Amino acid sequence: MLLLFYNKVAKMKIFENPKELMDYTKNLKGSIGFVPTMGALHAGHLSLIKNSIRDNDLTIVSIFINPTQFLPGEDLDKYPRKLEADKKICSLAGVDIVFIPTREKIYSNTEPKVLAPNQKAYILEGLKRPTHFDGVLTVVLKLLNIINPTRAYFGKKDAQQLYLIQNMCRSLFLHVEIVPCEIVREDDGLALSSRNIYLSKEQRKEALNISKSLKLASKAMMKDEFESKNLKKIMRENMKNLDIDYVEIVDRDFNRVDKVTLKQSIILIGAKVGDTRLIDNLWI
Ligand code: PAF
Repeated sequence: MLLLFYNKVAKMKIFENPKELMDYTKNLKGSIGFVPTMGALHAGHLSLIKNSIRDNDLTIVSIFINPTQFLPGEDLDKYPRKLEADKKICSLAGVDIVFIPTREKIYSNTEPKVLAPNQKAYILEGLKRPTHFDGVLTVVLKLLNIINPTRAYFGKKDAQQLYLIQNMCRSLFLHVEIVPCEIVREDDGLALSSRNIYLSKEQRKEALNISKSLKLASKAMMKDEFESKNLKKIMRENMKNLDIDYVEIVDRDFNRVDKVTLKQSIILIGAKVGDTRLIDNLWI
């Protein structure tokens, strides 16, 4: 048993050079599942990894803190870096390949720009973080081109990111299936995020009001309240102690809606607790 475990751990390959990874994967047979991450892996990432391992012959995880998706003044420099722990988590989970490129291997000074569509990328998250999604799409496109996966796994917590990536893959006719994965939460409801480690004990308690607000909206809907403005009011009232960026209800194409429709709407919250921006959402 121990030997089996050891073999699986020892088998994991690490690539830093995109060209070497491309040469290696070119000759592989079977389906490739891809989980892009910025590291500091937690149970949310693990669930993406597990889904990928379940669905594919081979799973590749990338760990790359993508500088182009951070705005000046954001937490690029202090973003948690836990490379050794991340590699261990990947090998124990049964990941086949970890791709850890440097910034220089991914970006050059002379490259075409990928621009996320204004009307969908400059609302909600993008209103507070203009150009953020340009950076996300740029790096995801590069990673998909390097890895050429059969499927790529993204969490529903980053709902707007997921939508924009699906939209990019559809619009650019990329040969990849984007697989949305459920939000993973702590027992008390807090959605898992690499940024949760910035929260003090007190702030963590305050942050719980985000997921509690989504629960309150859920309860209100069970009592037949589907008006967006009333649901938003209930949620805002429950988050008075937070610095709310937005509380919004959209359809699956990220258009604002006046009424929630079952199986078609998403309730989204973006809020700051201290200096930490947190997001959460509920897919109706
Ligand atoms: O969701 C993330 O962790 C990042 O935005 C992603 C998709 C890995 C791109 O850097």
